[in-house]
Amino acid sequence: MGNILVTGGAGYIGSHTIRQLVNEGFRILVLDNLVYGHREFVADVDFVHGDLADLGLLEALFAAHKIDGVVHFAAYAYVGESVTNPAKYYRNNVASTLNLLTAMQAAGVKALIFSSTCATYGNPRRVPITEDHPQDPINPYGASKVMVERMLRDFGSAYGLKSVIFRYFNAAGADPSADIGEWHDPETHLIPLVLDVASGKREQIHIFGTDYDTPDGTCVRDYIHVTDLAKAHVLGLRYLLEGEPSVVLNLGNGKGFSVKEVIQCAERVTGKPIHWVGSPRRPGDPSILVGSSTRAREILGWKPTFDSLETILSTAWKWHCRPRTS
Ligand SMILES: NC(=O)c1ccc[n+]([C@@H]2O[C@H](COP(=O)([O-])OP(=O)(O)OC[C@H]3O[C@@H](n4cnc5c(N)ncnc54)[C@H](O)[C@@H]3O)[C@@H](O)[C@H]2O)c1
Repeated sequence: MGNILVTGGAGYIGSHTIRQLVNEGFRILVLDNLVYGHREFVADVDFVHGDLADLGLLEALFAAHKIDGVVHFAAYAYVGESVTNPAKYYRNNVASTLNLLTAMQAAGVKALIFSSTCATYGNPRRVPITEDHPQDPINPYGASKVMVERMLRDFGSAYGLKSVIFRYFNAAGADPSADIGEWHDPETHLIPLVLDVASGKREQIHIFGTDYDTPDGTCVRDYIHVTDLAKAHVLGLRYLLEGEPSVVLNLGNGKGFSVKEVIQCAERVTGKPIHWVGSPRRPGDPSILVGSSTRAREILGWKPTFDSLETILSTAWKWHCRPRTS
């Protein structure tokens, strides 16, 4: 099918995507600095421990391997940290991506899948959010992704680079085998934090804002199962390798779930009570963030199959309860 370089492949979404790509016959080379990744998530594929900041390494990789396409997950993604340390985000997410694009251009590699985010939209002016919604990010993390999107358009016009830009909503859940899953350190995502409370690792979960203009007063978000995200990448790669034009696609569930709905569903799935406390709203948290993925369905024929909240939470719980060696 082709040789694919996967940057950030030892991370959460990258490792799940590699599993689907390998199933479909792609040969994989992972580049990851393991700052947040886990080597054991990609034990069965070729792996290079290195950093995108190292242009020489990238050039050597492209010279040594015939790469047909790149799936680019590597980035830092802590919104709060991006506000206090924006230099880290512009350096890693933007400058290092420029290195990758430079090395790809020199090697004549013209197909790239990029992990963008719903954070590029900022506060939604309408929901569900479609791809033509204005991009007005409210933090440096979102801004760094908008900058890369802009670079991709310019590299497309000037050098013929073809890209699929995926704007993910909230990735959640785990591979049904439960041998890979969400493992961020520090963890900031709602579902693993809720499961920490269910398993007794944390005492309680804070709900930031219980007085939003939503049915139960808590924020509504779009959770997309990581395996569904991964399958979209396979379709996106095939699309690009068949010579189709660059495209920007939201990847979301299309359904919103409130924080309280997530907690109640987690209580059902785990059979444990989950203690929560109401806290003040956080600045910059929109009440509702739900995406329309109609375009991805139409262009790629993509269809989420793990889209119930129960499935998302039960796969996450199975991963959470895995035997741990560390
Ligand atoms: N998790 C989500 O809900 C979500 C939502 C929207 C967008 N995204 C984007 O999807 C991508 C993957 O997210 P994730 O949740 O899997 O994150 P992750 O932290 O689990 O994975 C990112 C991987 O990239 C590696 N990495 C970072 N900088 C690198 C560098 N300079 N060189 C080499 N490797 C580097 C890390 O070690 C890690 O393994 C990111 O680009 C993120 O911004 C994630």
